[in-house]
Amino acid sequence: MTAPARTLFVTTALPYANGPFHIGHIMEYIQADIWVRFQRMRGHTVHFVGADDAHGAPIMIAAEKEGLSPHDFVARIAAGRKAYLDGFHLSFDHWHSTDSPENTELSQSIYRSLEAHGLIDVRRVEQFFDPVKGMFLPDRYIKGECPSCGAKDQYGDSCEVCGSVYLPTELKNPYSALSGAQPELRSSDHYFFRLSDPRCQAFLREWTAGTDRHGEPRLQPEVLAKAQEWLGIGTEGGSLADWDISRDAPYFGIEIPDAPGKYFYVWLDAPIGYLASLKAHCAKLGIDFHALLADPSTEQVHFIGKDIIYFHVLFWPATLKFGGHKTPDRVNVHGFITVSGEKMSKSRGTGISPLRYLEIGMNPEWLRYYIAAKLNARVEDVDFNPDDFVARVNSDLIGKYVNIASRAANFVNRHFDGKLATLAADPADPHTARVAELEAAVAAAYEGREFGRAIRLVMGYADEVNQYFDANRPWELAKDPAQREALHEVCSRCLLAFHRMTILLKPILPVTAARVETFFGTPQLRWDDLGVRPGTASPAHAIGRYEHLMTRVDPKSFDELFELPATADAPAAAAPAGAAESAGAPAPVSIEDFARIDLRIARIVAAEAVEGSDKLLRLTLDAGEGRLRNVFSGIKAAYDPARLVGRLAVLVANLAPRKMKFGVSEGMVLSASADDAGSPSGLYLLDADEGAQPGMKVS
Ligand code: MSP
Ligand code: ZN
Repeated sequence: MTAPARTLFVTTALPYANGPFHIGHIMEYIQADIWVRFQRMRGHTVHFVGADDAHGAPIMIAAEKEGLSPHDFVARIAAGRKAYLDGFHLSFDHWHSTDSPENTELSQSIYRSLEAHGLIDVRRVEQFFDPVKGMFLPDRYIKGECPSCGAKDQYGDSCEVCGSVYLPTELKNPYSALSGAQPELRSSDHYFFRLSDPRCQAFLREWTAGTDRHGEPRLQPEVLAKAQEWLGIGTEGGSLADWDISRDAPYFGIEIPDAPGKYFYVWLDAPIGYLASLKAHCAKLGIDFHALLADPSTEQVHFIGKDIIYFHVLFWPATLKFGGHKTPDRVNVHGFITVSGEKMSKSRGTGISPLRYLEIGMNPEWLRYYIAAKLNARVEDVDFNPDDFVARVNSDLIGKYVNIASRAANFVNRHFDGKLATLAADPADPHTARVAELEAAVAAAYEGREFGRAIRLVMGYADEVNQYFDANRPWELAKDPAQREALHEVCSRCLLAFHRMTILLKPILPVTAARVETFFGTPQLRWDDLGVRPGTASPAHAIGRYEHLMTRVDPKSFDELFELPATADAPAAAAPAGAAESAGAPAPVSIEDFARIDLRIARIVAAEAVEGSDKLLRLTLDAGEGRLRNVFSGIKAAYDPARLVGRLAVLVANLAPRKMKFGVSEGMVLSASADDAGSPSGLYLLDADEGAQPGMKVS
């Protein structure tokens, strides 16, 4: 390529270390990975890093609930990452943690620089304190009655019933979601990053509206519009508020220098984790981290989802600027993935487990291809739809692309001993120019994250090649010895076109591309290899024995992927516990076996009949996790939903989520029954004595 080589530092958002990856994470990594692989194929140097976002109150609390130190808790999550990263061919160069010496050092030094710029302020803040837990409570751990409508058990920031937004101090009868205790108002010193300072405002106005070194806007138009709104551009007197960056002990985080008992709020040290991961990566390679980062020619590119724009286009660039570092070149924002039109929330997940996808043997490149086909450069949501998935993979990827190779290779192997014809180069051939144009358009599409467009272009070309093959009827040519040369040419042209398409699809399909490389004996194809035109010095002269490159999706795999129960209306997850077994005295279990079942007290926050089901109720449960669970329970015949609201129940909290016709069930509630499982009347919901709190362990 004539373009000078670039050095890129690329990141994806750092996932919270409180759970395994979900399909939304994988989608983000696939997007970034395709872009990174494209850049590498162009001959650029890329440092592609990720890390776990380990700190913060929710992780500290989750760890405590499991009786683990936060350190062990996040280590357990980290141990699970590799299976996903390898499984989906995500080519991160390094995966780190924000709970690391590199991050501590960088965060503290950046803080000192902010301080030296006069951008840190200490102010007294009044906040709720849990006297039982001995800690200040984050808003989401304070509950009480809504000040507007009086609804019970509402979170400290907004009401789920009437939608009003308020301060935790405005709740009536507030209680701690951690201990149930009544919180006390206490004050303590907090450290603020003075974003309202005119220097910050001026910098952010310029940075957000700027371009990268290639003259491309650094933010997508819709992201820039948001940023300007937040910066108060175009509105009267709006401006950024100062940012509270400290939390009081006990907190799982990084200590603030010279401020005993104070820790950085997780969102201060989390993005610094990008640098920490790069630093650890550099140490591995023996590269000078500071020189690489400070080098003005190093391009810093972040991929993130739309929910964390605020942090990445305001706080983060300001932190870097006044923390003494280079600011990001680009922040690329993507929308959310939904599954069959259903929004997946962070807390509820979706029916698709990426690990299960791999375990049941679905091909990771199908997902890469499907997601790529749906992605563009805008902040738009992407829907995962099984029928669409099957259609795109089977009819496009296999039916068009793979099909060319399997059909043409057959003839070349059978009649020409695997040798490809030497084709005369004809610069005047309109096809040659057309292909060069196509390749440039595909490259531009990858560069601009218009992956759907890249795929449409390649598939358009595949259509043409298939038509060319069909129009020349090689199966008839093969019967006529006089047409031997024509047969050789037609099939060779198709195979060389397939070889080109493979280069064009390689960022998306790295494993298939590697197989094709072996098949043609052309290892490590790069974008440059497209420059070789047929008949000049063809990159491929012969093919190996054709082996299946990729199989079709069996639509039945989705039944397994979504874990559909035998009958959607009588899910095992919702049946009364052990009702069927109890009659026939089950075999004894060890205490360890029993301990594997995580039983928790949960409060029924809402209950409603499920339309289209005569057995199920949809229960919304608060199990003290700082989020709500959705559980379908087969108790409709025995309970009027209105009677259940506010009651306590016993939840099997670690039951694998089940996708049912009506949604995902995240656990099951226990009830007693004298009847056999077939008769739902005479069901008795288990509850707990007065004083039990959501989240308490039942043992
Ligand atoms: N820990 C923070 C990010 C810190 S970055 C310094 C965080 N973690 S997260 O695990 O909640 O999200 C990680 C990334 O996944 C974010 O970019 C987020 O937008 C993305 N996604 C979370 N749910 C998603 C979908 N449903 N679809 C696509 N991406 C989604 O936020
Ligand atoms: Zn309300």
